[in-house]
Amino acid sequence: MPKPIFVLNGPNLNLLGVREPAIYGAETLSDVRRRTEARAKSLGLDVDFRQSNSEGQLVDWIQEAREKACGIILNAGAYTHTSVAILDALTAAEKPVIELHLSNVFRREGFRHHSYVSPAAQGVICGFGGKGYELAVEAMADIVAGRQAAKG
Ligand code: DQA
Repeated sequence: MPKPIFVLNGPNLNLLGVREPAIYGAETLSDVRRRTEARAKSLGLDVDFRQSNSEGQLVDWIQEAREKACGIILNAGAYTHTSVAILDALTAAEKPVIELHLSNVFRREGFRHHSYVSPAAQGVICGFGGKGYELAVEAMADIVAGRQAAKG
């Protein structure tokens, strides 16, 4: 069995389903987790799906991914727009990274248009709600299998 994809979720994503459903949708994080795991399984991959409200915990998990993951799918929530520590951890991890957001951050406030995750990411998926997690797993499956065409 290949190493799992780490699917890491940042602050406030534990509130999915009750938090601003007009923006983030009605699905809970458990719903999103189930569809992510199902898509991965259908592609012969395993996911390790986690959420934390703490920046340091996310940094620890990204460091762990260096040894234990085949790639990282990261929805860093608001830390996307603030955290140099997460960028440094992603760079040090030397793993393929996909940046993910439920909402289309580019249709929203200007402060959400800048990402500290993007410089370390192979690609960005945003605006497709929970479906984005499935799309990210599909993209990561291609990357780990060496089928990824664009290298940015
Ligand atoms: C988010 C977008 C961020 O700007 C926001 O702070 C979040 C969620 C998203 O999934 O759309 O917490 O990452």
